[in-house]
Amino acid sequence: MKMKKLAVVGGGLMGSGIAEVSARAGHDVIVIESNEDAGKAALGRLEKSLQRAEAKAKIDSASAVLARIRVETDLGAVADRDVVVEAIVEDEAAKVALFKQLDQIVEAPDAILASNTSSIPIMKLGVVTSRPTQVIGIHFFNPVPVLQLVELVPSLLTSTDTTERSRAWVEGSLGKQAIDCQDRAGFVVNALLIPFILSAIRMFESGFASAEDIDRGLVLGAAHPQGPLALADLIGLDTTKAVAESLYDEFKEPLYAAPPLLQRMVDAGLLGRKTGRGFHTYS
Ligand code: NAI
Repeated sequence: MKMKKLAVVGGGLMGSGIAEVSARAGHDVIVIESNEDAGKAALGRLEKSLQRAEAKAKIDSASAVLARIRVETDLGAVADRDVVVEAIVEDEAAKVALFKQLDQIVEAPDAILASNTSSIPIMKLGVVTSRPTQVIGIHFFNPVPVLQLVELVPSLLTSTDTTERSRAWVEGSLGKQAIDCQDRAGFVVNALLIPFILSAIRMFESGFASAEDIDRGLVLGAAHPQGPLALADLIGLDTTKAVAESLYDEFKEPLYAAPPLLQRMVDAGLLGRKTGRGFHTYS
């Protein structure tokens, strides 16, 4: 089974994490970003994270891992890849456009075209390609180098061979643990987590309790490693809102509706950790 050459399209929070764990596992990795500045930012994120891993003795050499990663802005560079993992913004039209391009570019007839989407149906991405049997959701969790879980999401058209090769890759090569999910918005984890986060936002929005107390409540009273508002800041409020909207779109349940405060914060560019301010502030 040939799964050595990997590309990650989108080198943001998740894409750089997926690139890191893949290069740490010995893969040859290309990261595609949309422009030079975003490419530099992706490389910076990778360097910082790998240096942290080296300092904690989790890897021998950050530079040896980095040497297996190339950041490019030309999507044509993915032509010879065995696996392409898409991790661009959570926007259906953007992902559909990208999968159409990937289908034209990726040469290997058995290559896997995966999406890290949190909520967009895999079927929508599969059917715009000529090879829906090879399109699958491989959903990592943030921060990718730390969290063990991967959700495997075959669409109705994905082949068993694609699912099993994906499982072998994430479990065998990357050392992750996979759970199987049906192709429904939110899969298992976000379908449960997002309504919980949205309830915390509504509680804060109504003035019922402060952001600090809501988070402290869940940390100290329910042994959560971090509170729901801090978790939303970590996920990114833009991504949280996008996932909520996909869930709402799919199920039409009020519990998935993004509260107005979340929408205003995204409009204001208060996106959480990545911009320094969300429900909490970060230096
Ligand atoms: P992000 O905003 O940090 O990164 C997205 C990156 O994609 C940016 O660096 C952007 O420049 C790049 N990009 C956008 N369009 C592109 C294109 N056409 N070609 C190449 N690069 C492009 O977003 P994040 O958080 O990394 O999310 C990415 C995907 O992962 C989304 O689908 C999201 O739902 C999913 N996800 C996010 C998680 C989270 O906790 N943030 C967890 C699991 C999945």
